[in-house]
Amino acid sequence: MQQFKGFMTLSRHIMEQERKYPKATGEFSSLLSDLAVAAKIVGRSVNKAGLVDVIGFTGDENIFGEEVKKLDILANETIVRTLDHGGHLCVMASEESNGLIKIPPEHPKGNYVFLFDPLDGSSNIDVNVSIGTIFSIFRRISKEGDGTLQDCLQPGFYQVAAGYVLYGSSSMFVYSTGQGVHGFTYDPGIGEFLLSNENMTVPDRGKIFSMNTGYLNFWPDEIRRYYDYITSVDPATNRPYSLRYIGSLVADFHRNLLYGGVFIYPPDKKHPNGKLRLMYEANPLAFLVEKAGGAASDGFTPILQKQPVDIDQETPLIIGSKEDVAVVEDFLRGKK
Ligand code: AHG
Ligand code: MN
Ligand code: MN
Repeated sequence: MQQFKGFMTLSRHIMEQERKYPKATGEFSSLLSDLAVAAKIVGRSVNKAGLVDVIGFTGDENIFGEEVKKLDILANETIVRTLDHGGHLCVMASEESNGLIKIPPEHPKGNYVFLFDPLDGSSNIDVNVSIGTIFSIFRRISKEGDGTLQDCLQPGFYQVAAGYVLYGSSSMFVYSTGQGVHGFTYDPGIGEFLLSNENMTVPDRGKIFSMNTGYLNFWPDEIRRYYDYITSVDPATNRPYSLRYIGSLVADFHRNLLYGGVFIYPPDKKHPNGKLRLMYEANPLAFLVEKAGGAASDGFTPILQKQPVDIDQETPLIIGSKEDVAVVEDFLRGKK
């Protein structure tokens, strides 16, 4: 019989991680704890999304006369409002907001910068398919006052934490502060995220590839040749790989993290720089995958080494099992 090791809640885990840093002030832990609250609120809205028509919400107003917001806007506002007054942030930026999100003048400013995609995979909201929130945390560079664009435009290598919340068959909070990647599953009965996946690691090689093959005719030749390779038969390297593509990066990433495999969003004729956002999507997932023993690249440069120039910039993304990412890079570099 398996020994019962006791429950580890997300809040306790955050506190125990903090004890490893004797100089920690608690500011960072309270930021993560506030984020867990935001995750519960957004998760509740996501779970109720299908009820909007059933319980009588009409047009743009609900039965209380409140405006019914699109879920990605609601998630954005919930996260901003939960984090803007805790005193731990100096600035935020989100895929759903234009420019930087300032901390209101009446609230104290802190040492951290928070960048996020409030609801990733939003085209899947109305069809009950997994979606998620992705976040990235940096320490500020500027000394005091409002955070600046320069505070936000740091290479991913400098992230102090990153993670995501997946709203799927159950909600999961997955994060790393640099020491392992840990996953917590939400227990709605007690309202807590409980440790379910400690020290997650990604296999060095998988059997899954994830890409939008509908764009085959938009792809560069190198990626078309990779597609021919990965779908051709070779039992020694498990080929052909299985294709799995949800269309929510966070959900495709989560599956490939657990099973192994590679997610590819290359540059194509429609998206010459790729589609995914460096600061809100690629950097945080690259931080996690590297801490789990995997790799993330734009084909030529590791994602975490890219110097950002624009808060909203896009990047090609190849992410997942180390050996699988290396094979895609070999094709892009003309070595295969
Ligand atoms: P978002 O919903 O935050 O705008 O992100 C959508 C992204 C990502 O989640 C997904 O991997 C990708 O768009 C899918 O794009 P295609 O439909 O072009 O394959
Ligand atoms: Mn997204
Ligand atoms: Mn989004």
